[in-house]
Amino acid sequence: MAKPPAPLHPAIETVLVTEEAIQQRVRELGIELKEVYGDEEINVISIMNGAILFTADLLRQIDNPVRLDCIRISSYGNATESHGTPKLVHSLTLDVTGRHVLLVDDILDTGKTLSLVSGMIRGLQPASLRVCVLLDKKGRRQVPFDADFVGFGIPDKFVVGYGLDYAERYRNLPSIGVLKSELQKSGA
Ligand code: IMP
Ligand code: MG
Repeated sequence: MAKPPAPLHPAIETVLVTEEAIQQRVRELGIELKEVYGDEEINVISIMNGAILFTADLLRQIDNPVRLDCIRISSYGNATESHGTPKLVHSLTLDVTGRHVLLVDDILDTGKTLSLVSGMIRGLQPASLRVCVLLDKKGRRQVPFDADFVGFGIPDKFVVGYGLDYAERYRNLPSIGVLKSELQKSGA
């Protein structure tokens, strides 16, 4: 029997990507990764906290040897607009020199975070560096940046769920939705 639709969370205005659509696309991304990497080892670097749920699901779609590390970047605080330059708060512990690196993030927005992190990783001279994001807000770029693997392109709306937060909340929602405007306070 089909699962009944989940009730809309009170903080969500509209659901943009359903739980089923996410799971389906994550399976497809696993196939895309396999096509590119074959049986090579993949050194996955997940950007905390947002990419944790996506990374966990994505990794279970690939049977390659995988090494995993997480890094932490600060940029948002309790606002819906990123302010200033992202900072590396917790760095890599994995040695990536000469290895195939896949950087995973929840969303590509202005491009500042992934430019910073990929520049840093490139400096460590990996064998290859590719980037996988679940969501891409293409219209918002301030720094030119393209990801190699993209789950969904989305419009310029502030979204939460499936790892994405507003002031650390809503990361555990199984779908991705637009946060109600009355709950957003820009620049806070
Ligand atoms: P960028 O540096 O502007 O590309 O921002 C990337 C980071 O901003 C992501 O890793 C997210 O943590 C955060 N972010 C951007 N847009 C959203 C959104 O709509 N909801 C929640 N977090 C977002
Ligand atoms: Mg993030």
